[in-house]
Amino acid sequence: MSTDIKKGLLGIVVDETAISQVMPDINSLTYRGYAVQDLCQKCDFEEVAYLILKKELPNKLQLKKFKKELEDNRGISTNLREIIKHMPKKAHPMDVARTVVSVMGLEDKETNNNSPESNMRKAIRIFSKTPTALAAFFRVRKNKKVLRPKKRLSFSENFFYMCFGKIPSIEIIKAFDVSLILYAEHSFNVSTFTARTITSSLSDIHSAITGAVGSLKGPLHGGANEEVMHMMKKIKKPEDALKWINGALDNKGVVMGFGHRVYKKGDSRVPIMEKYFKKVSEIKKDNKLHKIYDTIKNVMIKRKNIHPNVDYPTGPTYHLMGFDTDFFTPIFVLSRITGWSAHIMEQHTANKLIRPLSKYSGKKHRKVMLLNQR
Ligand SMILES: CC(C)(COP(=O)(O)OP(=O)(O)OC[C@H]1O[C@@H](n2cnc3c(N)ncnc32)[C@H](O)[C@@H]1OP(=O)(O)O)[C@@H](O)C(=O)NCCC(=O)NCCS
Repeated sequence: MSTDIKKGLLGIVVDETAISQVMPDINSLTYRGYAVQDLCQKCDFEEVAYLILKKELPNKLQLKKFKKELEDNRGISTNLREIIKHMPKKAHPMDVARTVVSVMGLEDKETNNNSPESNMRKAIRIFSKTPTALAAFFRVRKNKKVLRPKKRLSFSENFFYMCFGKIPSIEIIKAFDVSLILYAEHSFNVSTFTARTITSSLSDIHSAITGAVGSLKGPLHGGANEEVMHMMKKIKKPEDALKWINGALDNKGVVMGFGHRVYKKGDSRVPIMEKYFKKVSEIKKDNKLHKIYDTIKNVMIKRKNIHPNVDYPTGPTYHLMGFDTDFFTPIFVLSRITGWSAHIMEQHTANKLIRPLSKYSGKKHRKVMLLNQR
């Protein structure tokens, strides 16, 4: 047996997927064959969610039915609302996200049914209810009244409404929708692989998504969008950005929002999100962050040839939209639930227990001494 170690599974192909394709060579990302750029231009987030979950873009009637199903499932139980009200106000919203999905698993009547039909129903419930639960925490910790979800609002509109009590302009909603489309799916990233690994033991979708949320939280993955904002807050003024980034690189620091395991010449999602970041900066009449953004990006490319990933533009965009920094990764969760769910269902259809090997590097075989002899 080969003892070659592939730390981080670097370059290892572990399975097939028909959900998305990351093509670093031509700088493209497709969901079920459609380029994300095309989807961002022609579709709203719900159409893309439908595509990821149900394999094809919906026609008008299918979309109407899907939106109704999402709206009908937005409510959370009184029990869950009470749990959220009793959560520590200082808890990180990613820990809240992980916990609420887990609680939904306790409450769901179909938790232990892994049939394709049941998994689709559960995926839609998790997708619809998680924004409601997170928005409840968004308000509870500010001592504000929890707002119930509203029907006849889009996914994005309803989330803004539940957080802020009002719906922003069409341009802001479009920018948010685009960010959700870009975050929805990205093949075998660490959280998706976590979800598939949990699923491979034939566990349930709530367990797999709970684990995926935990994985997304880390700063090397979804948590990067929050870290980007912390960095920009630290820099404060655009005129200080150059000194800051040169200092960080001189000290061999890792700059959050840059670099990618797969994309080495740039992340195909970045140019689209940058366009909307710029738009939101103009609407909010605040270009301070944009200036910091450009300075850091230029130095990173010039000095290190390391390009930004999608978390770099989403972080400051969400900040300008009014979201608390620690809510950026939970917003990523709301969208990625679609990708995770599709992967969980795909794993179930052709399952093989995921169980890699390890090379032992511990103590040699030895005898156990009795307690009074040690
Ligand atoms: C995403 C990430 C973990 C990819 O890691 P990876 O494929 O394992 O690549 P490595 O971490 O080995 O990076 C290769 C080299 O580039 C450097 N590098 C990579 N990303 C960097 C960054 N953001 N800032 C500074 N240097 C970076 C590494 O230090 C390493 O340099 P070395 O060869 O001199 O040691 C890494 O780029 C990173 O930590 N980025 C910041 C976190 C982030 O934005 N995550 C979101 C990803 S979508």
